[in-house]
Amino acid sequence: MKTVIYKTTEEDIEKAAAVIAKGGLVAFPTETVYGLGADAFDKEAAKKAYAAKGRPSDNPLIVHIAKFEDLKRLTTLMDVKAHEGAEGELGEMLTLTKLADAFWPGPLTVVLPKKKEVPKETTGGLDTVAVRMPASEPTLRLIRTSGTLLAGPSANLSGHPSPTCWQHVEEDLGGRIDGIIAGDPCEGGIESTVLDLRTMTILRPGLTTPEMIAAVTGEAVSYDRTLFEKPSEDPDFHPMAPGQKYRHYAPKAEMRIVPAEKLMERVKEEEAKGRKVRYILHPEARTFFAKLREFDGEGADIIFAAPLPEGDSLSFSVMNRVLKSAGYNIEE
Ligand code: TXA
Ligand code: MG
Repeated sequence: MKTVIYKTTEEDIEKAAAVIAKGGLVAFPTETVYGLGADAFDKEAAKKAYAAKGRPSDNPLIVHIAKFEDLKRLTTLMDVKAHEGAEGELGEMLTLTKLADAFWPGPLTVVLPKKKEVPKETTGGLDTVAVRMPASEPTLRLIRTSGTLLAGPSANLSGHPSPTCWQHVEEDLGGRIDGIIAGDPCEGGIESTVLDLRTMTILRPGLTTPEMIAAVTGEAVSYDRTLFEKPSEDPDFHPMAPGQKYRHYAPKAEMRIVPAEKLMERVKEEEAKGRKVRYILHPEARTFFAKLREFDGEGADIIFAAPLPEGDSLSFSVMNRVLKSAGYNIEE
């Protein structure tokens, strides 16, 4: 399959939208990482997205919307009426409205009860659907023009570091998808925060922090406890946060986390063995995944990363990616 590289011109976005409407796959820019777009209401398109990524089909996709009203197509929460006295759901709808006002477009994904029109192929078999509005003008235009909504996992091969520029997408998925919209490099660099609205629990930490969410909603926000645990390799393990189950973001090189004060010493030791070493002293959201790809491109044998200080929510989000990339390989 030839992968077309689209510009962000009106003409090219129209062409890309037509491909989506016909059930094709087009990768799109966002402020977090690049996504792999498929029609969210088309089972076959969702299946193609899993196949192109080489991703297990029980790992659910996020649906990208362009305006608040798009939620009506996805979630039963939007049909709740005050006079029906659906207390809990009404509260959830109000919280959703506050979150949308404060954070959309932006790096927050909210897990909501799904409508039956959203196929299980999109939601990995779950009764909930994860939704966000990305902060990328070309992508918002793509969604509006396509007439549908975009199911979009990160546009990398399953297990690889997430793509933060269109060239990363081409590296991984060139020849496997219909097109790529060549927008700007991503400013965020790590995937959106995933929030379960019903429990106000963060299933995946990101650039929208629990403090920011609590300040807007007035509700207590907690991290899902699995975020503090090393993910299980047991095939029967069914985590609350579906992404927990799979090996993530791994560079080709071996990767280890070492305390900053020991890092240079370890670099010298490995170099003395004749290995090509690369290191990251201060992991940052915007550049972390791109560095892993760069180091792989340079043929690194081993990558060291120093941990970030505990107690800060943004550092926690970045460390979540560092730990997964390193396969929880920590040197004391
Ligand atoms: O920033 C992002 O979120 C990027 C861009 C492209 O928008 N997308 C992204 O998608 O990271 P993906 O497919 O790589 O990650 C989706 C994750 C799942 O692994 C899971 O943790 C969570 O979102 N998720 C999706 N649907 C869910 C649901 N119904 N319930 C719980 N978690 C869900
Ligand atoms: Mg991903």
